[in-house]
Amino acid sequence: MDLARRSVEVILAGQSPSGAYVASPTFGPYRYCWFRDGAFIADAMSRAGEVESAERFFDWCAGVVRARPEGPWDARYNLDGTPDTSDWPHHQLDGLGLWVWAAQAHCERHGRASRWDDAVAATVAYLRAHWRDSCVDWWEEREGLHVATVGSIWAATRDDAARALVTDRYEHERLDGSHAFLVALGLAPVEHLERIERRLGYHRHADDVYYGGGRWIILAGFTGWARLLHGLDPAPQLEWIEAHAREDGELPEQVPPLLHPEHYDRWTEKWHTPAQPLLWSHAMYLTLKTVAAA
Ligand code: BGC
Repeated sequence: MDLARRSVEVILAGQSPSGAYVASPTFGPYRYCWFRDGAFIADAMSRAGEVESAERFFDWCAGVVRARPEGPWDARYNLDGTPDTSDWPHHQLDGLGLWVWAAQAHCERHGRASRWDDAVAATVAYLRAHWRDSCVDWWEEREGLHVATVGSIWAATRDDAARALVTDRYEHERLDGSHAFLVALGLAPVEHLERIERRLGYHRHADDVYYGGGRWIILAGFTGWARLLHGLDPAPQLEWIEAHAREDGELPEQVPPLLHPEHYDRWTEKWHTPAQPLLWSHAMYLTLKTVAAA
């Protein structure tokens, strides 16, 4: 099975006519489009040459932004771009930086003209004013100022103060798998990645109890990508992800062993088994595979 090809297929099947990427088509609480997941998915599709798919997602983002040009915007929306009124930690700023980052990189990569300049400018203006605001983290668990969030915002604004905050704080914050992206962005050194690999492997953080706290496919992807940028071999991460694809080539969100297995049942009682396929998992495989082949 060609997992990169299959990943493109799964992602295209999960893109709605509006351009939104569903986080997971089969997992009820994830039948929405997140700026964060979507940005990494679009970035992966752009890298894989799926220009139209990526651009349809940026159209969707721009539509959400234009509907409320002063902001604020939520972490996730219904697939048709209307607000999600369910109870969810909506205040997350990282994804706003990430969609801009992905759209700009896409235009540069493919020499494409941007048709989202107004929405990009509105998003960046908002982020420049609010980048230090407390908000919910990548894992939607904690309110505060988080380096992965500020790094994601920096990717769009390139603001020196945001960079300085990340470089000053990454070592003092709870060690977190999301920091691997900071290494990929060049905001944290390879020593930090080594720390993550040694102490967390592909777990999100040591206290993770969500579905018992498994190992996340996306984090193997981020780790491999950051390794590659530092001249380290990403083969272990590629092979690990491939080994965790199901027979039909679908990638789940997370896999055992669990850090806190006593918490698993309470989640399955609530929401059944963990998300699969997770489009973001497929995206991070695709990104790693593409970057490794370049
Ligand atoms: C993760 C988020 C992600 C969402 C949808 C959550 O469990 O913590 O980072 O955006 O799932 O995939």
